[in-house]
Amino acid sequence: MRKYHAWILIPAILFGLLQGCYYDKKETLYPAPAGSTNCDTTSVTYSGKVQPILAASCVGCHNSGNAQGGYDLSSHTGVSNSSARLLGSIKHSSGFSAMPKNAPKLGDCQILIIEKWLANGAPNN
Ligand code: HEC
Repeated sequence: MRKYHAWILIPAILFGLLQGCYYDKKETLYPAPAGSTNCDTTSVTYSGKVQPILAASCVGCHNSGNAQGGYDLSSHTGVSNSSARLLGSIKHSSGFSAMPKNAPKLGDCQILIIEKWLANGAPNN
């Protein structure tokens, strides 16, 4: 009888150990595209996410009293009127003036947020 116990217990313990070590973090199994790690683009809104980025990096040169290049990014209307040139400029795509001008490129997550918002139709939310 004693022997039977061992044959059942040893595999049971090994199974338990293997289960415990199974590495099933979503981020490890499905790595996010470069730069998008920890970038939450699930609930991107103009007022909550996009406007603060523009206010910090762009509005100083692009507002109603000083619309450099003809772009006013201080209001939703101004930003949606600029949408055709917006993404290319912040992604530093060829054929666009790289923005923010004379300053480091926006972070990958900031660019993803703006890209997502534009893809959603640039809503005033
Ligand atoms: C230091 C001033 C300055 C800052 C900061 C700045 N811009 Fe500009 N922006 C300009 C000027 C000047 C132009 C006109 C084109 C040029 O001189 O490059 C321009 C042009 C643009 C254009 C048109 C680009 C094109 O190729 O047609 C867009 C879109 C734009 N800016 C968006 C932004 C965004 C978005 C930010 C923030 C991430 C930003 N800008 C920050 C000065 C600035």
